[in-house]
Amino acid sequence: MMTTAKRFCPAAAVAVLIAPAPAFATNIAGNPAAGKLIFHANNCGSCHTLKAAGATGLISSNLDKKKASYATIVRVVTAGTTKNGLAMPAYKGALSTKQIQNVAAFVYSSTHR
Ligand code: HEC
Repeated sequence: MMTTAKRFCPAAAVAVLIAPAPAFATNIAGNPAAGKLIFHANNCGSCHTLKAAGATGLISSNLDKKKASYATIVRVVTAGTTKNGLAMPAYKGALSTKQIQNVAAFVYSSTHR
């Protein structure tokens, strides 16, 4: 028992030091595989490039480069946004909260590896 505990402690400490992301990842709701289908069904790729989706849209930002936080993705997909005269539609009427979480989980996980 004691030996096991001693072996685990240093490993956990190192994991926390070198990889703060997993602690963050526990706050992420949604299913990335389901989100990929939502990304395609809603033509996110007509405006955005996202390698994991095979999307090459050039109207707006390249999501691989933008690396938006999970919270930002949820906010922008829910409420839409406008920048430099370009508008992204709000999806809150078209997608459920769960579906927005799924597509955000897909975009977040495929751009934060
Ligand atoms: C009609 C074009 C269009 C469509 C369709 C579209 N977007 Fe956007 N998106 C934009 C514009 C314009 C912006 C704001 C400028 C920017 O940040 O590139 C934006 C910004 C974003 C951002 C970056 C937010 C930030 O500030 O970092 C994310 C993430 C995003 N969109 C995801 C999506 C997802 C997911 C979908 C599909 C559900 C989608 N977009 C559909 C045009 C679009």
